[in-house]
Amino acid sequence: MERPAWAPEGVDMNRPSPARMYDALLGGSHNFEVDRQAAEQAKKLVPDLPRLALSNRAFLRRAVRFLVDSGVRQFLDIGSGVPTAGNVHEVAQAIDPECRVLYADIDPVAVAHARAILAGNANATAIEADLREPAELLEQARATGLIDFDQPVGVLLIAVLHLMGDDDAPIDRVNALHDAVPPGSFVAISHLTSATRPEDAAKLQNNSTHVSKIGLHFRGRDEIAALFGKWEPIEPGVVELPLWRPESDRDQHETPGRSLGLAGVGRKA
Ligand SMILES: C[S@@+](CC[C@H](N)C(=O)[O-])C[C@H]1O[C@@H](n2cnc3c(N)ncnc32)[C@H](O)[C@@H]1O
Repeated sequence: MERPAWAPEGVDMNRPSPARMYDALLGGSHNFEVDRQAAEQAKKLVPDLPRLALSNRAFLRRAVRFLVDSGVRQFLDIGSGVPTAGNVHEVAQAIDPECRVLYADIDPVAVAHARAILAGNANATAIEADLREPAELLEQARATGLIDFDQPVGVLLIAVLHLMGDDDAPIDRVNALHDAVPPGSFVAISHLTSATRPEDAAKLQNNSTHVSKIGLHFRGRDEIAALFGKWEPIEPGVVELPLWRPESDRDQHETPGRSLGLAGVGRKA
């Protein structure tokens, strides 16, 4: 298969990536045949998977608006993915054009596409970085000069921690970010859960381990709440995606009780 112009050299086009598979689920165009096949395979197991992806994006938008309303003007979006409708800079800068957004992702396709769409936006850029190496990630973030670590930061960990197994010490990474930002900062987390539909969660987890090999880790309610580490969860706590401060019916892509994702926002006191 020929490498499309948007795909950086060296990208393995024969192996699905979580970023491109998620883009395929959302109907995006920055994915390969292997990603579309992996997305279709997962949809055969759980047909309402695209609703989950939309529900997650809707939570992201609500959380960003909430953080801007709470006074946050700079965002560090880690595991930001391939840009798609309702990106963080679009949502935040629609309220205040001075909002600054730094996207970080481990996937070169996600970073290349983010840089392409951000060309000309002085208040947003993207870095290739690994959440499992928070010191290096933070050093790179400082080097961009975009984030002032003396001012509150909105740290976004949306649908990324479930790509880390317990061996990757996700709580330590979340705490390292807590320690790097000043009081008044926030973290927003969304995460795949086994709490609501354990059979569907088991099917998807098994498929991701043995078939697509993207390695998803569905976690229970208490495990996800524990991932907030030193951050203090704010109301309504860790809840199903559609139940986190819903704004309108249009925003409700999933039925409460059926969401395969939990989400919450925490604050640094
Ligand atoms: C399912 S996508 C979520 C994209 C976006 N945050 C959203 O929720 O719409 C997960 C993203 O996390 C990225 N990712 C996975 N492991 C990562 C790591 N260790 N460090 C940084 N990014 C990572 C993947 O490349 C992918 O783009």
